[in-house]
Amino acid sequence: MNSPRHRSTAVEATGSSIQTAAALLRDGHLVAFPTETVYGLGADARNGRAVAAVFEAKGRPQFNPLIVHVGSLEAASQLADLTNTAKRLAAAFWPGPLTLVLPRRRDSGLSELVTAGLDTVAVRIPDHPVARALLEACACPIAAPSANRSGHVSATTAQHVVDDLGSKVALVLDGGSTAHGIESTVIDATGGPLMLLRSGAVSAGQIKAMTGSSLARAVNQNQRPQSPGQLQSHYAPRAAVRLDALTVNEGEALLAFGDNVPATSGLVINLSPSGDLIEAASMLFAALRRLDASGAKSIAIMPIPEHGLGEAINDRLRRAAAPRE
Ligand code: TXA
Ligand code: MG
Repeated sequence: MNSPRHRSTAVEATGSSIQTAAALLRDGHLVAFPTETVYGLGADARNGRAVAAVFEAKGRPQFNPLIVHVGSLEAASQLADLTNTAKRLAAAFWPGPLTLVLPRRRDSGLSELVTAGLDTVAVRIPDHPVARALLEACACPIAAPSANRSGHVSATTAQHVVDDLGSKVALVLDGGSTAHGIESTVIDATGGPLMLLRSGAVSAGQIKAMTGSSLARAVNQNQRPQSPGQLQSHYAPRAAVRLDALTVNEGEALLAFGDNVPATSGLVINLSPSGDLIEAASMLFAALRRLDASGAKSIAIMPIPEHGLGEAINDRLRRAAAPRE
């Protein structure tokens, strides 16, 4: 179980509680920890079920891609390709409250859910001694959105985390109040013009002073700032997608859920034979990619219950099924 029923209390961050937290992370549990911006709700970014538990704990009805925290530039370059500009930004602002969206390496080992199926990944090295020590002890990339329930304000003390998510995390490391109190600045540094995806603790002016050019701001077709994470079009299968399928047509591949799977001679991937929505969420993006790569013209998708993580799964599937431009 990722979510203990009891309410966690915060534990002062010490050498030994940080070791405990690292062991919990490596075992697939969730740990909240301080960064210099806000508290993060952390999971091993390579572990799909742990990442799914983050979305479940936050109660987000959508899979937004998460920031992956690492302890060193070397660890960052194992996950993503750093362009020269990205390297200069990293040298100037890391460790610190700047998040770079970069091309994700194929051999990154990250769960597909962390990046919501995108080919890019958001990475940063936090500048907080507890976060750094946790990253070193865990020796794993840590996916961590702000440690608050969806729609609530970000947590800047350990007590905020306990109040909001105490029953959902294995451990809350208390490192006092966070210094900035606002999230990191998110920049698209995938190779085109640098683009500001989310304003945050590093100002656009500081970045301009370093790079010598202004940041483009993400806008959508309505010329309104685009909500972060929606800039890159979400991964869309090439195959047609048919929802709420109870039978499979000739030539269709099947994305199944539960134990009542219709007969078919085509490829079947079951998101969770036992009907576990956390398991299903952890498999979703990888399963869509595999079914699509099979060459099937259409993917039939069995109904998925619209509760808990099912809401976010169905949101993603409805978008995959929507008519393409
Ligand atoms: O200060 C922070 O950044 C905190 C602390 C815990 O580090 N973390 C945080 O994470 O705010 P989160 O997951 O709440 O915010 C991630 C932001 C979202 O706006 C998301 O849309 C964007 O980064 N993002 C993540 N991956 C992305 C990607 N591949 N492409 C575009 N935007 C991405
Ligand atoms: Mg947040």
